[in-house]
Amino acid sequence: MLVNTKILFEKAQEEHFAIPSANFLDMEGIKSHVKCAEETGLPLIIAIAESHLGPNMTLEDAANVGRKYAKEASVPIVLHLDHGESVETCKKAIDLGFTSVMIDASMKSFEENVATTKEVVEYAHARGVVVEAEIGHVASNFNQNDTETLYTTAEEAAEFAKQSGCDSLAISIGTAHGVYKAKAIPEISFDALASIRQATNVPLVLHGGSGSGDDNLNRCAREGICKVNVYTDLYLAAMKEVKESGAEDYLTLRNAVQKGLNDCLKHYYKVFETKPVK
Ligand code: 13P
Repeated sequence: MLVNTKILFEKAQEEHFAIPSANFLDMEGIKSHVKCAEETGLPLIIAIAESHLGPNMTLEDAANVGRKYAKEASVPIVLHLDHGESVETCKKAIDLGFTSVMIDASMKSFEENVATTKEVVEYAHARGVVVEAEIGHVASNFNQNDTETLYTTAEEAAEFAKQSGCDSLAISIGTAHGVYKAKAIPEISFDALASIRQATNVPLVLHGGSGSGDDNLNRCAREGICKVNVYTDLYLAAMKEVKESGAEDYLTLRNAVQKGLNDCLKHYYKVFETKPVK
């Protein structure tokens, strides 16, 4: 069934687990992620980043295909816009039937981030859609122009959640998007997580899950993160399967992609201790 994040995050907060947000790039990704959720009987957030939209998967395609498979699923599925770059894209995604959007104004000033997020929140809430925002900044190892990590403080997280009215908040406590340089597992500031958790009740989200270490992520899930975004590891796993399969025809290749995605997502369900939500 197609849902927004509300009841999922309530249960995740009460029972100290996290729900994976699995990025997809195309229809194979959507189908594979939803199938994995159904096989495990667990809720899932399927997400597409605005930067991954293009001729192969437009926002309309993502809405049409994502909604279809989410609606038909036997478990709760959220269709989420990841890293929405403008108010306009978020509004368009909401109009098309996404049940959750992220507005990422984390590189703007605190005041501008609040104002931008509030605009999306007002539009979304009038339509039953939830909004994720980001305070502090999770840097990216994909993008040479986006390498500066800004750690989130408890004070700004609490104030931002109060002023913006966002439904969930992405915080920066040591992870980064993409493959870590030197392949080292990052150091997570669990003290920062604890103080942010103390300062606000807003559901907390962690970006840059890939390569962040299973023990780290498990502890994040137990200590107050209720959604972890995973992209890079899913597609690295898919590529590994493709190489190992020695695929020489398209159907073998596609099966290998789906197996890689499926195995990796199952692994993260275990790491995050995700529980069923009725
Ligand atoms: P990774 O690619 O590091 O898993 O990050 C995913 C993410 O945060 C998407 O928003």
